[in-house]
Amino acid sequence: MYRYAAVVLFLASGIVFQLSHGVEVTVSDSEGKLCIYANLMVNFSVSYEEVGNKSSTAEFELPSKVTTEGSDCNVTSSLLKLNFGGHTWSVNFTNNGDKYQADSITFSYDLSNKAVFPNAALNETLSVSFKPEITGVAKDTCYSCKSRDTFESDTVNQTLWDVLIQAFVSNNSKCESFTSCAADVPSPSPPPTTHAPTTAPVTNATTAAPTPTTTPTPTTTPTPTLPTPAVGVYSIKPDVNGTACLLANFGLRIGLKQAEKYQEMNFDPNGTTTSGKCGDNSSDLVLVSKTMTIMLTFTNDTKKFRLHALNITGKTSSGVVFSEANTNLSLWEAAVGASYMCNKEQNYTITSMLTLFTFNLRVQPFGVRKGVFSTAEECQTDAESFLVPIAVGVALLVLILIVLMAYFIGRKRNMATGYESF
Ligand SMILES: *[C@@H]1O[C@H](CO)[C@@H](O)[C@H](O)[C@H]1NC(C)=O
Ligand SMILES: *[C@@H]1O[C@H](CO)[C@@H](O)[C@H](O)[C@H]1NC(C)=O
Ligand SMILES: *[C@@H]1O[C@H](CO)[C@@H](O)[C@H](O)[C@H]1NC(C)=O
Ligand SMILES: *[C@@H]1O[C@H](CO)[C@@H](O)[C@H](O)[C@H]1NC(C)=O
Ligand SMILES: *[C@@H]1O[C@H](CO)[C@@H](O)[C@H](O)[C@H]1NC(C)=O
Ligand SMILES: *[C@@H]1O[C@H](CO)[C@@H](O)[C@H](O)[C@H]1NC(C)=O
Ligand SMILES: *[C@@H]1O[C@H](CO)[C@@H](O)[C@H](O)[C@H]1NC(C)=O
Ligand SMILES: *[C@@H]1O[C@H](CO)[C@@H](O)[C@H](O)[C@H]1NC(C)=O
Ligand SMILES: *[C@@H]1O[C@H](CO)[C@@H](O)[C@H](O)[C@H]1NC(C)=O
Ligand SMILES: *[C@@H]1O[C@H](CO)[C@@H](O)[C@H](O)[C@H]1NC(C)=O
Ligand SMILES: *[C@@H]1O[C@H](CO)[C@@H](O)[C@H](O)[C@H]1NC(C)=O
Ligand SMILES: *[C@@H]1O[C@H](CO)[C@@H](O)[C@H](O)[C@H]1NC(C)=O
Repeated sequence: MYRYAAVVLFLASGIVFQLSHGVEVTVSDSEGKLCIYANLMVNFSVSYEEVGNKSSTAEFELPSKVTTEGSDCNVTSSLLKLNFGGHTWSVNFTNNGDKYQADSITFSYDLSNKAVFPNAALNETLSVSFKPEITGVAKDTCYSCKSRDTFESDTVNQTLWDVLIQAFVSNNSKCESFTSCAADVPSPSPPPTTHAPTTAPVTNATTAAPTPTTTPTPTTTPTPTLPTPAVGVYSIKPDVNGTACLLANFGLRIGLKQAEKYQEMNFDPNGTTTSGKCGDNSSDLVLVSKTMTIMLTFTNDTKKFRLHALNITGKTSSGVVFSEANTNLSLWEAAVGASYMCNKEQNYTITSMLTLFTFNLRVQPFGVRKGVFSTAEECQTDAESFLVPIAVGVALLVLILIVLMAYFIGRKRNMATGYESF
């Protein structure tokens, strides 16, 4: 029932989607046909040097009056260029037939615009480029992102929100359906409790076209949420034809703090290579995906096993490399010969920078027999969810017993008094 509710919510959130109230522009190609549509909000924060060796910060918004001179549309590439106050903000798009993407956002600002940059020491025009995450947008759909997306460089921070952009518009029909950014996609139903291989809740995120309205959007800021990560099924076989000696199923997400910025990334089991080794006292599982390498070390202390070390290295979507490890953990503890299971979402602080989130976890690093999981020892939160119905059941049983006892005692009394009255 839970799951249905979530699905309905998900659909509803697609339907109530409204067009935003930002800066709206259109670009037409040489034949006068609409080829780029954009409706978006951008805030800029630019640090610059003032005369007298002082540094200052200018904050301004993309104004509602912009021109699109210099924009250009071609078959496989397009340029959206917004000009305002001597500054330009431009986005390069390319497409590969089915999908299109924004390759870069370039912001050029003119320091001689003293209304924006009072007392600027220089009169130059400076440029910064950002790599946006506007990728894989399905052809003939509008990229939509209500969530705030901030890009930082040494001198310029820009924040985009309430973004609707469609490049390569065909037949003048803009924004008939949408490709939502990951930050906008609500987290779908609680993870399924089965351990089917890679039961990825495939969120295509292309929702039906809402009727375009000009109603101002409600001022609620959406909380950026990732979809539940797909559950990966991993195993290590000591030799090619052997049965598995280590089994692990889980969906993983990491939370990463970097330079005061926190971001979460799902681990994609699709395309992940598994390696490692099984030992008597220690087993390793190494998972390598496109974006991350995860090394898990389990130890066996004769009676119990536990996750002892975790080393995660990778690259964030903005290209920043990270490497976080803790070699002194005691997680996922269970008896050697059993498996550890935790279906509920869990989070673990691995280092001050890294948090690990697990979904539908089940691992057995030692004593695997016939390639299947042994008896599971469940984590406390899973056990508690079982305890509630059990507690209710026990309470009901006690109640029934009390009623029955009361009945029998009452009957006995009655019979006794019956005898006495004779
Ligand atoms: C950009 O944002 C970072 C983090 O919020 C901040 O430290 C920096 O001063 C900002 N830079 C500008 C130019 O506003
Ligand atoms: C400007 O400031 C920097 C550091 O804030 C200092 O090293 C430099 O000497 C200053 N230059 C002038 C001309 O005052
Ligand atoms: C954008 O900037 C304006 C003023 O410069 C400010 O009022 C507004 O709160 C900013 N919005 C965001 C989302 O940062
Ligand atoms: C910048 O240009 C303005 C007007 O064109 C001029 O008054 C000013 O001296 C120039 N500043 C610098 C640092 O060149
Ligand atoms: C995902 O989107 C593509 C293109 O928009 C479409 O062909 C496909 O059927 C969609 N898949 C699902 C599962 O909705
Ligand atoms: C694995 O099995 C295949 C066929 O089932 C066989 O040809 C191969 O020799 C076996 N390899 C090993 C290392 O046993
Ligand atoms: C895995 O990725 C490949 C290509 O990257 C794709 O064709 C395939 O559909 C994906 N499988 C799942 C289950 O997502
Ligand atoms: C766990 O370690 C003990 C000794 O440290 C060893 O006797 C036992 O066989 C190990 N268990 C497994 C499943 O490897
Ligand atoms: C495992 O640990 C036991 C006792 O702690 C030790 O006797 C044994 O040699 C170890 N086995 C290996 C393979 O390291
Ligand atoms: C974690 O893995 C990386 C890459 O393999 C390695 O360079 C680093 O030393 C490891 N860290 C620890 C603490 O083992
Ligand atoms: C490992 O953790 C234990 C308890 O959590 C602590 O007592 C011990 O000092 C830690 N060792 C290292 C090397 O951090
Ligand atoms: C981690 O889990 C606890 C409860 O288990 C929860 O209160 C907390 O919000 C979670 N933290 C994050 C970042 O999800």
